[in-house]
Amino acid sequence: MRLSEVLESRHSVRAFLPTEVPDETLLRVLRLAQRAPSWCNIQPWRVWLLSGDARVRFTRAMEEAATARLPCPDVAFPGDYPEPYASHRKACGKVLYEAMGVARDDGAARRAAWMRNFAAFDAPHVALVGIDRSFGLYGALDVGCWLEALMLAAHAEGLGTCAQAALATFPDVARQVAGMGDEVSILFGVALGYEDPAAAANRARTARQPVEDNVTFIR
Ligand SMILES: Cc1cc2nc3c(=O)[nH]c(=O)nc-3n(C[C@H](O)[C@H](O)[C@H](O)COP(=O)(O)O)c2cc1C
Repeated sequence: MRLSEVLESRHSVRAFLPTEVPDETLLRVLRLAQRAPSWCNIQPWRVWLLSGDARVRFTRAMEEAATARLPCPDVAFPGDYPEPYASHRKACGKVLYEAMGVARDDGAARRAAWMRNFAAFDAPHVALVGIDRSFGLYGALDVGCWLEALMLAAHAEGLGTCAQAALATFPDVARQVAGMGDEVSILFGVALGYEDPAAAANRARTARQPVEDNVTFIR
């Protein structure tokens, strides 16, 4: 696939086949993502890749936590979204819930769909991604570059991904299962595996605003 095709066809995958990805494929994708740029090439992304029993232990504990208590992420999630971002966010939810056949006013179905996050959408692999607490916004920017490289490399290898801030909501669960220390802030997880092509959730496609909405051209 050409890079333009990879960029245009990648989408978030929210239902996976149970088949595990061979280690050599996972490593190929991770090696490509490792090529991501970072400020002074510090490469600050810290990644714990959970598979098999570890993945099951993690998602079970996350589902329990999400049922029993309120989110407590290491890094505060955005609160109110001003316009135009609030509208973009709403449109994203609409696309997803429409693809899944969930009605706008069906609170129980929306909650059930949200809870699928904590099962990592049944992906056979979950990457937990963190950063040393001492890094600020620019360190997180580097991790964002890594995330995009990972998602594109995975897609080019025939794998699906979904970046998930939801998996950062109970960092104590991540620490318990993966053993990272308190010096690491958990930023997000990435569900990784083979896309289930029959799943309704995977039919969702988000749109983008015209370039002129984000870019100011000055001569
Ligand atoms: C940092 C980050 C966190 C995200 N967290 C979640 C999440 O918790 N749950 C989810 O279903 N999607 C999550 N997403 C996926 C976005 O909703 C998705 O990328 C966006 O709607 C654009 O759709 P697309 O990926 O299909 O192009 C996240 C994406 C990013 C980059």
